[in-house]
This record gives sequence, structure tokens and C-alpha cells, in this order.
Amino acid sequence: MGFPLEPIERSSIAELRTLQLERLRSQLAHAYDKVPHYRKKFEAAGVKPKDLKELRDLARFPFTTKVDLRDTYPFGMFAVPMDRVVRIHASSGTTGKPTVVGYTKNDIAMWSQLMARSIRAAGAQPGNKVHVSYGYGLFTGGLGAHYGAETLGLAVIPFGGGQTERQVQLIADFKPEIIMVTPSYMLAIADEFERQGINPRDCSLRLGIFGAEPWTDSMRREIEARLPIDAIDIYGLSEIIGPGVAVECLETKDGLTIWEDHFYPEIVDPETGEVLPDGEMGELVFTSLTKEALPMIRYRTRDLTRLLPGTARTMRRMEKITGRSDDMLIIRGVNVFPTQIEELILRQAALAPHYVLEVSREEHMDRLDVIVELKPEAHAMDRIDREATGARLQHDIKSYCGVTSHVRIADIGAVERSIGKAKRVIDKRPKT
Ligand code: DLL
Repeated sequence: MGFPLEPIERSSIAELRTLQLERLRSQLAHAYDKVPHYRKKFEAAGVKPKDLKELRDLARFPFTTKVDLRDTYPFGMFAVPMDRVVRIHASSGTTGKPTVVGYTKNDIAMWSQLMARSIRAAGAQPGNKVHVSYGYGLFTGGLGAHYGAETLGLAVIPFGGGQTERQVQLIADFKPEIIMVTPSYMLAIADEFERQGINPRDCSLRLGIFGAEPWTDSMRREIEARLPIDAIDIYGLSEIIGPGVAVECLETKDGLTIWEDHFYPEIVDPETGEVLPDGEMGELVFTSLTKEALPMIRYRTRDLTRLLPGTARTMRRMEKITGRSDDMLIIRGVNVFPTQIEELILRQAALAPHYVLEVSREEHMDRLDVIVELKPEAHAMDRIDREATGARLQHDIKSYCGVTSHVRIADIGAVERSIGKAKRVIDKRPKT
């Protein structure tokens, strides 16, 4: 027998919408009453919490972005006094000050409950041991996974990121059934298994709960072929809570179920901000429904996806994220996401999913270099075969993405391994 579902996971849609409306009203009032920054923004937009009569009225309320969090750095958007805050996390971001988020005791309980729900949806069974390789610390991955697994009653091995050699040793000795880690670091761990002369297919792991960075279905197939696991996608962001905003259900693996009873999703046109109907591709926006310390109203995630009807649960799903609007490369006017190139790399049997995209400017023109490693088993390949593999990838990138690239086939280990989120793009173009 597995773990039972919570009743809300199987409620009727009408019941879920009623709950959302009730929670949304009180969350808007909480933000307006307790955070002067929200009050100012609502007033500038000419809206008050009581203007929300039905869910779709949310579109009248202003968006929140990273800029709001930066402008009020570090704690200006907290809606409770510090004596009610029990945890602070921060995400480093690429530029400037980190984004700081806070949690009350109830926020931690809600997050732990949703992470427990996510780990169960991913297929955890009573008695499982969970090896956590997400980083502990200011990053929400480690502690989020940890509290969730503990809440579910599983045995947590709180390893954290790094020390890859010891990770492998401990996995071999403790025999966990579940690993929670970024997909790129999972590959580095699998490589290390091989380096130690252990076939990763013989390890104890049965389930991998992977997120914190975009990854493709081809990467899923690659990971599932190398390890004896189901690879499940988990999504989240610090501003909304951390991991556990949405997760794939093992029984369907058809996109990520959004825990809509706590986070209300919208898809908007990234240019105009107009709300798009379910099924259309756009930018994901979340409004928290139950948060105390840091209510988030219409937070622009920058992540691109679309909303789909529920399958394994009542809640709607979101399609696997193809990328963030800020990861999109514009190469000589053509939009390219690193995940599109990842798909094409994985079509070549000889290539490993260790890659980095380097963008530079040459005589006023953008240049894209794709640096990708050979698989260990293809290592003996001669120069001619390497060139042919590179030429095939270059051809695929031209025909599927529409950009000319320069593919460089690198030796094993030449592409820097991440121990957390992989860095896929090095943009050397001068900032304009
Ligand atoms: O990455 C939280 C997390 C930890 C999620 C562990 C899953 C597992 P941040 O550091 O704030 O939080 O980064 C959030 O990472 O807006 C996405 O762009 C990206 N991201 C997270 N999960 C996925 C995923 C954590 N499954 C940002 N697929 C988000 C694609 C993801 N991108």
C-alpha cells in the first residue's frame, strides 16, 4: 500500500475554484493591509482587494516582479513582523542583490506538506530512503526536499551538493531508493559511478525527482536509460515558496500538476501582459493563496509554458518548461533556447548531454559555438567520425533552429560539471 492522497487532490473542479476564490480574497487583503509596497501599487492601479468578485478579476491587479523585491531589499515586502519569521532563504540571481524570501511557521508547514505531496505524487513508497543532493543553505532545494521527505515519513540522507565521489560511495552503501537532485548533477553522479567501476544501472535508486533547471524529455530518456529509475520533474521558485509548486505524477508523466489550492496560475503574453486562455503558450504568473510572510501577487516567473487540464489530479497541469524568457538567446535575430539544442544533441548516439553554448560577436555578427562532449563509449572515435558527428549536429541546428553554429566536440570532462544548476550559456557579447 502506498501513501493515501489528500482529499483536495481528487475534489471536484467547482470545489477547488470555490476554495481558490475564498483564499485569493484573503491573500489580496493580507498583502494590501500589511505591505505598504502592495498598497501603493494597488492604489496606482485603482484596485482594492474587494474588487475581486471572481477569479478572473485577478487580471485587474498589478504584476509583481523581481524588481519589486530588489527595490524593497531585503525585507520590505514581508507582511509579518520579524518575530513571526522562522526562516529566510535567498536566490543569488545573475546580477546584483539576491532575492530574499521569508517564511512563518505556518508557511514552512504548508511548504513541507506540499513537498510531501509532491514526493508522494512522484512515486515514493513507505520505507523509502531519500538521498538529497540539492544544495542546503540559502537555496531552497535542499531544505525544501528535506522537510518534505521527513513530513512524508521517509528516511532522509541530507547530503547536499558536491563531493561527488563520496555521494557515490554513500549511495552504494546506504542504498537509497530515491534521489533528489538537479538533472545535470545526476549525470555527473552517474559518470562518477562509472569512474568508480560501478554500473549505475546496478544501483539501488528507483526514483529521481529532478528540477531547479530546464531539462528535456530527451534528457529524461537518457537518464532513465543510464539509471534504473523513473525520472520525475519537479518545479518551483523561491519567490513563490521553493520546490513543490508543481510536480509530475508517476502514473501519467504528462506534465506537472500545479498545487493550485495554494498557488493560482495564469499564463500571460510576455510582451503585453494580457491573460491568455488555457492551452496557449506564454509566461507563467503565480499568485500565492495562503502565504503569511511573503504574499506574492501575480508574480512574473519569466518561465514559459502552457496550462493543460488535470489528468491524474483535479488540478491543472503545466507543460514541461522549455526555458525562461531571459535564457532565450537571440542569435542574429533568431530566438533559440538551450533546451532546443539539448534535444538535438541527444539525437546523436555518440554525444553526451554535457554541453555549453558560447555566444560571441565577430565583426558585428553573433557567433554561436556549441561545445559538447562525446559519450565515454564513443571516446575512441577517430577525427573523421568526430567531424562527421559535429557536422550532423550543425546541420540539425541549422534546419530545426534556423541558426548557423560552430560545433566543437570536446573530450570527456572538458565541459565544466555543475553541482547544482547547470550553466548552459556563456554570452561573451558586449553588453549594449
Ligand atoms: O530552483 C527551486 C527548486 C529547487 C525547484 C529544487 C525544483 C527543485 P530558484 O533558485 O528560485 O528556485 O529558481 C527558480 O528555476 O523560475 C525556473 O526558471 C527554474 N526551474 C525550477 N524548476 C524547474 C523545472 C528553485 N523543473 C527557477 N524545470 C524557476 C525548468 C525550473 N526550470
